[in-house]
Amino acid sequence: MFALDVCLSPEQAHLFDFKNKTCVVIDVLRASSTISTILNNGAKEVIPVSNIDEAKNYKEKGYIVGAERGGKIVEGFDFGNSPFEYTSKIVEKKRVVLTTSNGTKAIHLAKDSSHIYIGSFLNLDAIINRLIKDNKDCILFCAGWQGHFSLEDSCLAGAIVFGCNTKQNTCSDASSMTTTLYQSYRNDLDKMIQTSAHYRRLASHGVKTDAFYCIKKNHFNNVPFWNGKSLQV
Ligand code: MLT
Repeated sequence: MFALDVCLSPEQAHLFDFKNKTCVVIDVLRASSTISTILNNGAKEVIPVSNIDEAKNYKEKGYIVGAERGGKIVEGFDFGNSPFEYTSKIVEKKRVVLTTSNGTKAIHLAKDSSHIYIGSFLNLDAIINRLIKDNKDCILFCAGWQGHFSLEDSCLAGAIVFGCNTKQNTCSDASSMTTTLYQSYRNDLDKMIQTSAHYRRLASHGVKTDAFYCIKKNHFNNVPFWNGKSLQV
């Protein structure tokens, strides 16, 4: 038996003690989904960085670097945060650096955790099976949007709590609430994603196809983990 709690946004992170706990960082649209896709497409590692200057330094050193802010590619960079940009042809055996509005910052905020995994709908069952196998107290950390609650991240947190068998593991109102949220949408994730604020933002930038891709359940069987300096599988 292990405790599963949900941090609904980085603004709440100071309320949680990450030490000696596993942390699953969740950014459905799109950082978690893109990281899982890049690693599934054969990249050696993904290096998440919080700021654009750091990303620029890596670019000057010849790394493949993706930079997104506000849902768009940052000027001066060749890649943004769309999972479709990182084909095997581009990333296989390569090191990829990524900076995004919220997701990569959340990874750095979770650094005190004993284990950090990256969770998305794309690798949902793989994450659930890993948490059950680890049997360790865990915080599901939603990246949200600029400190705000995000529907899709909370829905995925609920799917993980639900998948880990709630009765045994629920330990907070946030984990109970997100489980109920997921149960209300689990048979119509299309409806859920089209209700989300970030979906509207992405649609306004012409990339709503990314959103429908990011709600594909169990597209991969990987569990990206933090090795102390980067993410790998
Ligand atoms: C984020 O980090 O907030 C997201 O991944 C943003 C996006 O990709 O649109």
